[in-house]
Parts: sequence; C-alpha cells; structure tokens
Amino acid sequence: MARLTRKVSIDPRNYLFTFEVDRRFPKPLPGQFVQVASSIELTLRRPFSVAGASRPGEVELLVELRGKGTRTLAARHEGSTVSLLGPMGNTFSEPSTGEVAVLVAGGIGVAGLRYLAHELAEEGKRLVILVGARTRDALLLGDLLPSATEDDRVRVAFSTDDGSAGHWGTVCELLESELDALGEDRIASPRLYCCGPPAMLREAAAIAAAREIPCEVLLEEIMACGTGACRGCVVMTKHGYRTVCSDGPVFDAAELVFEEAPNA
Ligand SMILES: Cc1cc2nc3c(=O)[nH]c(=O)nc-3n(C[C@H](O)[C@H](O)[C@H](O)COP(=O)(O)OP(=O)(O)OC[C@H]3O[C@@H](n4cnc5c(N)ncnc54)[C@H](O)[C@@H]3O)c2cc1C
Ligand code: FES
Repeated sequence: MARLTRKVSIDPRNYLFTFEVDRRFPKPLPGQFVQVASSIELTLRRPFSVAGASRPGEVELLVELRGKGTRTLAARHEGSTVSLLGPMGNTFSEPSTGEVAVLVAGGIGVAGLRYLAHELAEEGKRLVILVGARTRDALLLGDLLPSATEDDRVRVAFSTDDGSAGHWGTVCELLESELDALGEDRIASPRLYCCGPPAMLREAAAIAAAREIPCEVLLEEIMACGTGACRGCVVMTKHGYRTVCSDGPVFDAAELVFEEAPNA
C-alpha cells in the first residue's frame, strides 16, 4: 500500500500526486511505471509512469484526468492509502559521453519523461527539453521540469498548436529546428527520448530515422493485466508482436512498426 502525502492540482485536468511507499519498494528507474488501484469498484489497475522518485520512499505521478480511474484517484484525500504495484517495465538507455539528450514530450507525455529529465539534469548531463501542447493552458511546464540553465547545459523550449505560447506549430517542428542547431555543434550528437500521442511518436521516429539519430519512445498503450499474460497491449515490431507492459514500455523507435499516418 502507498499513502497519498501530497496532491497538487497543476490545472483543472492534471494532478501531481506524491505517494509514500513501503521501504521494500525498489527505487524506480526512469521509464518504469506503477499500477494503481484507485477504487475497489474498478477491476483493472491503471498504469502511470513514475514521474519522480528522487527522494527515497517517495513516488510521484503526474496524471491527466480521463475517466473513472483517474477521477477517483483525484478525488482521494491526502493521507488516504491506495494499492500501488511496481515499479514495472524497462528503462531508457543512458546518453553516452558527448551525447545530448533531447527529450520530446507531447501533452501528458511530460509525465513519462519528467523523472528522466530530473535524473539527467542532476547528473550534469547536457539536455534539451521540448514540450508541445494544443494551447498555452495545456502546456505542462512550470516547476514540473528542470529549469533552463544560463550555460545552455539544460535548454527548454515549447510549442503550441494555436501559437498561444512558444513555437507556433508542432513539437516535432521544434525538434527539427533544435536538431539543425545542434548539427552546427560538431562535438555534440543527439539521442532522442520521446513520449506523447501516437502521431507525435511516429513523426519523431521518422525524423530520427532520416537523420540516423538513436531514438527511444515510451508507449502508453491501454493495458489490462499489466503482466504480459493477456496480450492486450501488444505493439508490432520488426521482430513480431511485443507487449508494452512486459517488453516495454520503452522501445527503440527503429524497432517499432508504426501504423500508417491517416492521410498517407
Ligand atoms: C506505461 C503507461 C504509462 C502511463 N503513464 C501515464 C501517466 O504518467 N500519466 C497519465 O495521465 N496517464 C498515463 N498513462 C495512461 C493512463 O494509464 C490512462 O489515462 C488511464 O488508465 C485512464 O484510466 P481512466 O479509468 O481514468 O480512464 P478510462 O475510463 O479507462 O478511459 C477514459 C478514456 O481514456 C482512454 N484511455 C485509457 N487509457 C489510455 C491510454 N493508455 N492512452 C490513451 N488513452 C487512454 C480511453 O480509451 C477512454 O477514451 C499511461 C499508460 C501506460 C500504458
Ligand atoms: S496488459 Fe496484459 S499483456 Fe500487457
């Protein structure tokens, strides 16, 4: 069981939860997820990326309200307990010396990359964080992510579909221009880490393939058992079907077979 110690409403749709977990709960790795039973009325647990675990005994989740599971979680009071299983799944690869980690998040995809961003910033790694959303109000930024540094070791840029903040357009357009800028730096080579809606992941993977850049994506398929048994979360890879819950949720983008874009 985990105790909800802090519940912060980021905006009307998104909450940051802090849970105190049992001493035996292993320290999660970036990319891993937990399965939460937010109410006894719901048969299936809901998966959420670990959005922070920098302090021992604490796990943070950044949750967008969607349906019953997320809404019952948001209705919980501080001090209440929930059943939280994990950490589950694999993790991202480390950027090697000379590589710049370029994190690309769309919408609630920030949740899947937040812990990685803080860990890399803490380790002193060079980092570019790109965040996209539909509008200014939907941008998940603020204190959620590491701040930009004056020496550009950590760089943060954002985009909105309606141009109300940052680059007017998609986060993948922003990615292209950031990669062009990095290309002028002969020492640094980028490594991409992406989480967001399927169309964004498909486009980011295509950009990475065209530029021959390593790219990992965190997939958020709808899950049922969460243990690899029901095959409800399969994705197609070049080596056949893989389950997001037990083979992922982090995949090498070059290994994934993305569905065709609707207008392709
Ligand atoms: C590995 C993994 C990590 C995730 N991490 C996070 C996270 O950090 N923060 C977060 O807010 N969400 C995350 N999700 C998505 C989250 O699990 C779902 O939003 C949640 O289960 C919805 O539960 P619900 O009962 O509120 O909605 P439901 O009533 O189950 O569904 C409401 C609506 O949301 C849609 N939906 C449900 N699950 C998903 C999904 N996985 N992707 C897209 N649409 C979905 C349904 O089709 C339906 O339209 C993650 C999913 C996975 C698999
Ligand atoms: S959710 Fe059952 S196999 Fe992944």
